[in-house]
Amino acid sequence: MAKKGNIIVGQSGGPTAVINSSLAGVYKYAIDRGYDKVYGMVHGIQGLLEEQYVDLSTQIHSELDIELLKRTPSAFLGSCRYKLPEIFEEKETYEKIFEILNKLDIEVFIYIGGNDSMDTIKKLSDYAILTGRTQKFLGVPKTIDNDLALTDHTPGFGSAAKYIGATTKEVIRDAQGLAYRKKQITVLEIMGRNAGWLTGATALAKDEDCDGPDLIYLPEVPFDLDAFKTKVKELLEKKDCVVVAVSEGIKLADGRYVCELGSSSDAVDAFGHKQMGGTASFLANCLTTETGCKTRAIELSTLQRSASHLASRVDIDEAFMVGGAAIKAADEGDTGKMVIINRVSDDPYLSDTSIFDVHRIANEERLVPREWMNKEANYVTKEFVDYVRPLIQGDLLPVMVGGLPKHLVLNRGNGAGRKARRTMK
Ligand code: F6P
Repeated sequence: MAKKGNIIVGQSGGPTAVINSSLAGVYKYAIDRGYDKVYGMVHGIQGLLEEQYVDLSTQIHSELDIELLKRTPSAFLGSCRYKLPEIFEEKETYEKIFEILNKLDIEVFIYIGGNDSMDTIKKLSDYAILTGRTQKFLGVPKTIDNDLALTDHTPGFGSAAKYIGATTKEVIRDAQGLAYRKKQITVLEIMGRNAGWLTGATALAKDEDCDGPDLIYLPEVPFDLDAFKTKVKELLEKKDCVVVAVSEGIKLADGRYVCELGSSSDAVDAFGHKQMGGTASFLANCLTTETGCKTRAIELSTLQRSASHLASRVDIDEAFMVGGAAIKAADEGDTGKMVIINRVSDDPYLSDTSIFDVHRIANEERLVPREWMNKEANYVTKEFVDYVRPLIQGDLLPVMVGGLPKHLVLNRGNGAGRKARRTMK
């Protein structure tokens, strides 16, 4: 068998509870399939451009470390939100990247990320083909937002949905416990930007032991503030405690985000995405003025993407599987592709992987179909819940030390690239 070169892997975009399980999958399969070294980009492509990388064999020493990595939230290697310039707009950036890849004898470049990160795979694979380079570029899907095109779902979504479902149940119990002769309203704000998959997951809370949220508003449909207030007031006539779930990205019919009506920041990231947050607090304030009731705004914020203590086993396993599938695709000569997950059956839940042209995926957003919302667009349907439910199944308990989950931590003094060592504190 011909000697294989090296692999480099990076993590990009908003982290998830299982993004490191994909990293573990890439590492394990790469070693098993005879690649020489596996390097990790420290803070993705942005770090790589500054020669920040690490030899993963200096970080992962045993099967136990692999298990710990699978249970460690956030990006072990560090992430970034960095947009590469258009090809040939800034040729030097690309030449610099290929110079580093050649220096490290990289045969395969793997990027674990969402739709913006797939833009990096698309541009690098296009540049490689245009300039006759032989390296292969493959994408591994990741995002709590579940908004990647063509894949049935994305690793990270199932665990975030499990956390959101469980937290919604707990919040509803808390609210009901105190709602005695005093009406109260709770507004829960969920991430997901322009896609309502995560917000819809609050409906998982509805069961024989929980009423579930009263109203659910997704960003796919324009939000009518007056109709919302009227609806909440109607509900308050019938019950003492009203719980509403809203997406951070709900927008008015004129295109303004609801969070812009409050005191949100004007900041945007490299891909032009607005910094969200503040929707629940704006709506809760409106409802206090309108109803005089006690209101509480709860922003789940980063908790929903880092809660590895409540990760879904299905999600952890699939995240690992897609990492391995990228190595297999590279071995079979593919480039400019992303691994996708196919749902084989719901009961028992089974899935497998295939690969798809990254040009069809990069920068695209897959939204919740309108038919998976009710007529008034203030709740999701049974089909929505049936789609999500299999993805939150099973647990993989953290390794508990001193009463808290133990995590694997990047040791930057241990095998990191030259510049990384120099900047080490
Ligand atoms: O893309 C993932 C995501 O978690 C979105 O749901 C959210 O809008 C965004 O990242 C938040 O990013 P940041 O933590 O950088 O504000």
